Amino acid sequence: MIERRKIDHIEICYSYDVEFKNVKTLFEDVTLVHDPSPQINLDDIDLTVNFLGHKLSAPIIISAMTGGSNKSHKINSIIASVVEKLGIGMGVGSQRIAIEKPDLSYTFSVVRELAPSAFIIGNLGSAQLCLGYGLDEARKVVDMINANALAIHFNPLQEAVQHEGEPFYSNVLEKVKSLSLFLGVPLIAKETGSGFSMEAALKICNAGFSAIDVAGAGGTSWAAVEYYRSTNMGDENSAHLAYAFWDWGIPTAASLCEVKSVTNIPIIASGGIRSGIDAAKALALGANCVGLALPIIKLVVERGFDGVYNFIKTFINELKIAMFLVNARSVEDLRKSPIVITGKLREWLHSRGILSEIYVRRRGNL
Ligand SMILES: Cc1cc2nc3c(=O)[nH]c(=O)nc-3n(C[C@H](O)[C@H](O)[C@H](O)COP(=O)(O)O)c2cc1C
Repeated sequence: MIERRKIDHIEICYSYDVEFKNVKTLFEDVTLVHDPSPQINLDDIDLTVNFLGHKLSAPIIISAMTGGSNKSHKINSIIASVVEKLGIGMGVGSQRIAIEKPDLSYTFSVVRELAPSAFIIGNLGSAQLCLGYGLDEARKVVDMINANALAIHFNPLQEAVQHEGEPFYSNVLEKVKSLSLFLGVPLIAKETGSGFSMEAALKICNAGFSAIDVAGAGGTSWAAVEYYRSTNMGDENSAHLAYAFWDWGIPTAASLCEVKSVTNIPIIASGGIRSGIDAAKALALGANCVGLALPIIKLVVERGFDGVYNFIKTFINELKIAMFLVNARSVEDLRKSPIVITGKLREWLHSRGILSEIYVRRRGNL
């Protein structure tokens, strides 16, 4: 049953248009101010960052996607080989399926076999914590891939509109608190495409999370994925609900600024990150890394290792050129470079009372 659902999700993601329709990430409202006389060479740019105690050769993480079937074993193998070669990070998909069916653990553990030195993030749903999972299950999933961190995903929208969803979130953060004390690896709070607000970020920090992956709106819409799934299953009611929430969420750039305005814990900016220029804008706004999912799954399926490898190499080159053009030798420099915020993002930040805070913080960085 879960196995079928996971396969459906992957097939729908590469067969249909599942991105937000009218809501964008709002990175289009961020301009990095061009410097025609950078005092560095393109080759001088150093993308290395330290994320949760691990050195990455570029601030890029392939977001959580899959595991639990033969097909996902193949997908995970390809992504793991790419991240190992490039020195970047990777999240695996929800490992619940391997707790329920331990014979499927190999579809996840292959990641550590093929990426022995990479930064690898395990994954469990917060709804599972509410349904009885605890420290034992969290330890099992961490050990399965020798994870460097564990992401707990928060996907209330998907659970609420999914045909067989489990929208159980009562006291979820209390359950996380006990995990964070005893698990032994950092916990990352992760959305799946609707973003975190500043209020949510404060709760998350109090619960003991060490980082937040904002996974905001503007990229993959999980309501869209569930809409197609319910339609294909002939469940008109669920399809109708999912359609109504297709564009629900906090745009990624807004979510990143909201979270950054209330906490200093590391942030992964994800949800609709599609180019190295998007990444440069996210890093300039204070993200520590960026994450991307949908473009990668499509490339793995259509073009295998070479497709994913070449895409990430180009993404890295775009990021480097954007940094060169604002005279930023490092990610640290990029955070101090001038930016202009216009349009809807400006309105959003103004109405949430954090627009001036962003400019003040940047000046403080200088
Ligand atoms: C095929 C697919 C499967 C996914 N499965 C998971 C999952 O198991 N756990 C999770 O936390 N997020 C999952 N996600 C969400 C992504 O990690 C990411 O947060 C989201 O897709 C937004 O990024 P994007 O716009 O780059 O796709 C999945 C995404 C895709 C495309």
